[in-house]
Amino acid sequence: MIDALPPQGVPADQVLAELRGMRAADLPTHGGRLFAYVYDPAKAGLDELAMSAYALSAHVNGLDPTAFPSLLATENALVAAAARVLGAGPGTTAPDVVGSVTSGGTESLILAVKTARDAHPEINSPRLVAPSTAHAAFAKAAHYLGVELDLVPVDPATFTPDPAAVAAAITADTVLVACSAPSYAQGVVDPVEQIAAIAAERGVRCHVDACFGGWALPFLRRVGVAVPAFDFGVPGVTSMSVDLHKYAYTPKGVSVLLHRDAGLRRPQYFAFADWPGYTMVNPVISSTRSGGPIAAAFATLRHVGDEGYLELARQTRDAVAGLAKAVSEVDGLRLLAPADFTVVCLTSDDPGLDLFVLADELAARGWHTQPQLPYQGIPASIHLTVTASVLPQVPQFGPALAESAAAARAHGPVELPAELLAMAAHLPPDQLTAEMVAGLADTFGLTGGEPGAAPRLAVVNAVLAAAPPRLRERLLVEFVSLLQRPSW
Ligand SMILES: Cc1ncc(COP(=O)(O)O)c(C=O)c1O
Repeated sequence: MIDALPPQGVPADQVLAELRGMRAADLPTHGGRLFAYVYDPAKAGLDELAMSAYALSAHVNGLDPTAFPSLLATENALVAAAARVLGAGPGTTAPDVVGSVTSGGTESLILAVKTARDAHPEINSPRLVAPSTAHAAFAKAAHYLGVELDLVPVDPATFTPDPAAVAAAITADTVLVACSAPSYAQGVVDPVEQIAAIAAERGVRCHVDACFGGWALPFLRRVGVAVPAFDFGVPGVTSMSVDLHKYAYTPKGVSVLLHRDAGLRRPQYFAFADWPGYTMVNPVISSTRSGGPIAAAFATLRHVGDEGYLELARQTRDAVAGLAKAVSEVDGLRLLAPADFTVVCLTSDDPGLDLFVLADELAARGWHTQPQLPYQGIPASIHLTVTASVLPQVPQFGPALAESAAAARAHGPVELPAELLAMAAHLPPDQLTAEMVAGLADTFGLTGGEPGAAPRLAVVNAVLAAAPPRLRERLLVEFVSLLQRPSW
């Protein structure tokens, strides 16, 4: 175990060597073969620039915007850029847009929900309406904020909700209607125009979660992709979120939350003067905020520039088309949703071709995809978030997919022992103990194991797939709690 607090400090070179050693066991953040978690433009020199900018401002504190004007200036510049990309700003129909930089999509969504909730102190039991494909961060926001979440099911063929069902879900207690542009799981854009019109008619705020692909969509549109209306050009859209640490390719820790005007934003702030310390006013959840991510994002946007993002969108578009073609050429596999934007989401109709085994086979060959569990009539799938760095890898993907599919067929589908299946299907979540999960983790080789070797996760995914959502949650919590132990 590595001691984070040795009796005597360790020389800098050695510390960095230790960190490099640990990083070697991580999934590869660059190289275009990891289809989740990371966004890589493969642009020479960009990482170095972003890290230099980060270092310049790492110790700057956003706690007080008057103390560090550099942070305020760069934040305001990022907000203006995001607003412009999303159809707002001078000369548009949303000239009064305002915004804040947050630490990520989840924080932006929590704040969007908080702002909508606090705009209606007279509503005792506030509610949030969202399609069932909306990001899990909305559920987190609802949970943290004491807001009830009303999920509207989506059509299992289009993965979008029926606007009439959204309308039916709105009550007098609804403070916010949310939709995605695009959704994460299938990469689909919700019918924003219809949903925003319904929300406006009912006098309810409408948030468009463009955290995931919202930066990519406008550039994709400009390189010829048919992108439906989804931004501030749509009447009724009152707020939007876009993560710069996704398709703007900035280092992690930067999202932008925008409101159509300052009045709509006001309940976002938290100010407190009823204590003996400094008077506090926070636009976002954190109080102390590092200037590092903001400076790095500013440097990234300025260096890549509008033309640069257009070129990255072209590369992403072509990579998506190449991967989608590769999927269609493998017997038994098909696209679950059209690969229109930045996601390739595939499924299998062949019971002999288990997707979870396929994901393991791909991982064993160095291609790291994201299995998605079956949910409410939507079958299991494999998700690929596609970034510009994938393009040069596309020619190798087809053969790797075909080979992995053949290996998955030869391996056969996961067959869980009957008692494990019964447990997964019927165990009440509160009866699952830490010991049971530790036993399962041990059986499946999830704790320990070769560092750097791709673990075989098909059995684990099969157990999760057999369990209802509440038990899945308990299993995950107990498992992560097992991992999060101090390394004495
Ligand atoms: C549509 C959407 N919204 C919100 C989020 C949450 O973003 P973050 O992981 O930065 O908190 C994600 C993350 O993938 C997303 O895809």
